[in-house]
Amino acid sequence: MAESFYVTTPIYYVNDVPHIGHAYTTVACDALARYRRAAGYDVFFLTGTDEHGQKVEKAAAERGEKPLDLADRVVTRFQDLWRVLDCSYSRFVRTTEPAHRRAVQEIFGRLLAKGDIYLGEYEDWYCTPCETFWPETQLIEGNCPDCNRPTEKLKEPSYFFRMSAYQDALLRHIEANPEFIQPVSRRNEILAFVREGLRDLSVSRTSFSWGIPVPGDPKHVIYVWFDALTNYVTGAGFPDDPASFERYWPADVHVIGKDILRFHSVYWPTFLLAAGIALPKKVFAHGWWTVEGKKMSKSLGNVIDPGSMASEYGVDAFRYFILREVPFGLDGDFSRDALIHRINSDLANDLGNLVSRVLAMVGKYRQGVVPQADPSGGDDLDAQLRQGLADLLPAVDRAMDELSFHRALTAVWGYVGLLNRYVDSTGPWALAKDPALASRLDQVLYNACEALRAIGLLVFPFLPNTGREIWRRLGLARPADDGRLDELRTWGGLPPGLQTDRGQSLFPRIEAA
Ligand code: MSP
Repeated sequence: MAESFYVTTPIYYVNDVPHIGHAYTTVACDALARYRRAAGYDVFFLTGTDEHGQKVEKAAAERGEKPLDLADRVVTRFQDLWRVLDCSYSRFVRTTEPAHRRAVQEIFGRLLAKGDIYLGEYEDWYCTPCETFWPETQLIEGNCPDCNRPTEKLKEPSYFFRMSAYQDALLRHIEANPEFIQPVSRRNEILAFVREGLRDLSVSRTSFSWGIPVPGDPKHVIYVWFDALTNYVTGAGFPDDPASFERYWPADVHVIGKDILRFHSVYWPTFLLAAGIALPKKVFAHGWWTVEGKKMSKSLGNVIDPGSMASEYGVDAFRYFILREVPFGLDGDFSRDALIHRINSDLANDLGNLVSRVLAMVGKYRQGVVPQADPSGGDDLDAQLRQGLADLLPAVDRAMDELSFHRALTAVWGYVGLLNRYVDSTGPWALAKDPALASRLDQVLYNACEALRAIGLLVFPFLPNTGREIWRRLGLARPADDGRLDELRTWGGLPPGLQTDRGQSLFPRIEAA
């Protein structure tokens, strides 16, 4: 049986509609999931929504709606967007599902039973928008140090998780597993935080009711982050489907934004340590997008709606931009100019022109039929083209192992450049003039099509429509979705005799406004 690969996005709050930040993580996870499928893994890709908590309760109350009705509405917005953006998740988990409630209550119950959760009293400063308690020392002029909004003092009976008891075990785990928290700058922040000491964590609330009740004490609802983080095991089948859980857990990677790293690399692992469940292999925190140099916010009215970007510029162009423009892990800026520049240079000029050029020549000189040729023959130029692909595959693999999407794409585009140069140097238009060079022309056109087959499959995880379209135009009967990277390891996999289709320009140039 194929090796499993389990990747997760955060589950998104339903009090907000989807924006570029949400799309960023989900598209990145999708590219990784598609790449791993092409590499032969049995991939499980989880996303979903975080539907409990005071924030959602308040948002619903303001609209005079029941929280679940609000959630039902917003969930559709997310699911529709993932369909539009071609995100191939395996399961969409909602924290209001009965299966999730069972998972949360099971873990909470285990911790209660072994004394790692105990009843106490909580008094501290609470930031409702962030659903986070802060000690007074961390407030900035009374405001939340994360979002700078006012906090309020809350005192209530509360269950506590004995997080302090797991400080040493967590520290040892982080130290022994350099891959566990990525990128390394973030890992250092977390190490410093844990070394300062972990306090026990309040994990229940009595001041509102929209949540999962504490088993045996329903006045309390379980802290929304305890509830939300558990989605990663619910999604894999805990506790109802042990075979699936066994197969996919521990997750290979939780991809998240940098603002929620502490929850994922301190709270979550200590909950799991206490529950006796294996820890995820990696937590990767990506950076944040600003928009035209400014923080994105509703009040500034500059929130980027990924759906309208995709309909204006194309789904693949949007996906390409967010994955190529900024190294994954760093902050970046979204601007229309930068997006248009990427579309015109990388997509229209480099890739789009290449595809039309090659297929136009096959059309003109060989009636659109992929010619027969000896795949291992030719001169240095042909050898370079073959070697270029042989070098490209491990380079993309390494980049994807490190979630370095921009490096993977840069490497693939390096090969697009190589094929463009191959066409320039072999000069099919000149070969076509001399009937004595017909077999050389066959060879050049065959090799160019063979290289396009590889490019189609390698761009597919990032630009699914483009990858599919390149394969379709080459006359391949199977969709690129079913392609495997192994099929690229031997040069000459493209069957001769296929009827190609030149098609329209893949990426029309966009004139800057
Ligand atoms: N519900 C929690 C996550 C629970 S996971 C067990 C949550 N939800 S969220 O909807 O507020 O945010 C989800 C993700 O969006 C976070 O990873 C966050 O980093 C990301 N982003 C929000 N704004 C962003 C940008 N401007 N840029 C990039 N990502 C951003 O947090």
